[in-house]
Amino acid sequence: MTSNNTNFLLGLTTGIALCSAAFTVYAATVINNVVKDNNNFQTITATAAISSTAINDSTPSPETLERLSSMFAINSDKLNQIVRHFVSEMKKGLNSDKSGLLMIPSHVVNLPNGKEHGSFLALDLGGTNFRVCEVLLDGHSGARVRQSKHTVTDEQKALPGDQLFDFFAQCVTNFLIEGLASPITNPLAEIAKRHWRLGFTFSFATNQVAIAEGYLILWNKGFSNSGVIGANVVQLLEAALKRAGLASITVTALVNDTTGTLVSHAYVQPSTRVGVILGTGTNCAYVEKIENITKYKNVDPNVKEMLVNTEWGAFDDEQVIVPRNKYDVNVDRSMNGMGKYTFEKLISGMYLGEIVRFVLVDLVKTGEIFSAGASPELKMPHSFETAFMSRIERDHTLDLSDTRTVLENMLKISRTTLADRRLVKSLCELVGKRSARLSAAGIAAVVTKMNKLDGCTVGIDGSLFELYPHYSNRMRDALREILGLSAEYIVLEQARDGSGQGAALIAALAEK
Ligand code: GLC
Repeated sequence: MTSNNTNFLLGLTTGIALCSAAFTVYAATVINNVVKDNNNFQTITATAAISSTAINDSTPSPETLERLSSMFAINSDKLNQIVRHFVSEMKKGLNSDKSGLLMIPSHVVNLPNGKEHGSFLALDLGGTNFRVCEVLLDGHSGARVRQSKHTVTDEQKALPGDQLFDFFAQCVTNFLIEGLASPITNPLAEIAKRHWRLGFTFSFATNQVAIAEGYLILWNKGFSNSGVIGANVVQLLEAALKRAGLASITVTALVNDTTGTLVSHAYVQPSTRVGVILGTGTNCAYVEKIENITKYKNVDPNVKEMLVNTEWGAFDDEQVIVPRNKYDVNVDRSMNGMGKYTFEKLISGMYLGEIVRFVLVDLVKTGEIFSAGASPELKMPHSFETAFMSRIERDHTLDLSDTRTVLENMLKISRTTLADRRLVKSLCELVGKRSARLSAAGIAAVVTKMNKLDGCTVGIDGSLFELYPHYSNRMRDALREILGLSAEYIVLEQARDGSGQGAALIAALAEK
């Protein structure tokens, strides 16, 4: 994929060596503080706090590390409990709409066989970007893609819905004009000569009632455009295209990024049965037997299987099984949609950096990190990007110099010790590892529910899986803890551009 990635594109380790003199100066400052405070009541609190700070300038306090670890670690037993609960929530969701898991029938009933061909338009609204693609399926499991990519700003995420869709239509117009062979006096008339089929990847919880009809259930990932919840998003898109003079485009498929990922990975790897997104948001789709989707009526007797969009981001919104700490609660409270998509808020790229930031601000208050205090930058919501975590986890320099660049140059913390930087790195590890383990628990549950422990491929797209250091290894470790030997038969593979190519393929399959 996809548009979800760019937020977390990660820099390579750069940085400069720390000068040892700086350590000496810093140590002296800490000692001074302790002595100065030693005469009044505040000293007692300060001493208590300082007693749990770094034991020296290079080693973080073991108590602090232990406390954080107990807040973020999820052991094998807990993972197994989560998996059991997950499977039972999946079953409930397939029977009725009264479960945390929405289990949305996607109306995609075929997987590609590689022979699909033709030219399709695909639109992709993920979390961070909007893309327009022209996808040429060659009929031999191959595709060529021409695309334009546009950032969706925070302002656009709050526009009235019609204006957001007008922006999409404008991007499509520009894209099609750019694609014309030579400048033409009336480009719209030229474009209108051709009938375009379009797959729309709309990566939000949508009640899909037909392959090209779906009603938005709720916004997440920072979107709040009015007039879209409850509306048929295909109709909104077609109306905007019409307003832009593009009535020759028909939206023939509405697609979630997870179903797009599953289908596009199956195009190249036929054993694929599960599609997962680990990016700005997180979610999973899989192949379910139609007889198990008991809430789905009007079944065509020829249909044996259907892709189901789990919307696993909303797993355990009742908060009965997944452990959550005060920082998770803070992040949930500070975002739109409090109490909703709480599983996603522990896992995906939009939230991980913010969890780390809340912890750091707290550690500054208790005197356990950054003796110079928190910078205004660190206090600013979302200033600690998930990309910083990636960069810090990738920092293997002796003095964690790249971590220092992030903290001192980008977040403007005036002084950090090696102990501070090690503490930040351990914290990133804890938060990153928990995310990987929880997503592995989701996959273990889906594969268990499908009865596919004897083997299947999971196509995974998104920046966390692709770019976050150790993420896939941590997932594999957790899968082994949960599934034992069977984990070896579950192949986790990087999928690419499910949202573009997948939408085109689903549009092609819809015509079969
Ligand atoms: C959010 C959306 C879901 C999407 C996921 C990944 O969880 O609700 O539909 O698949 O993000 O983009």
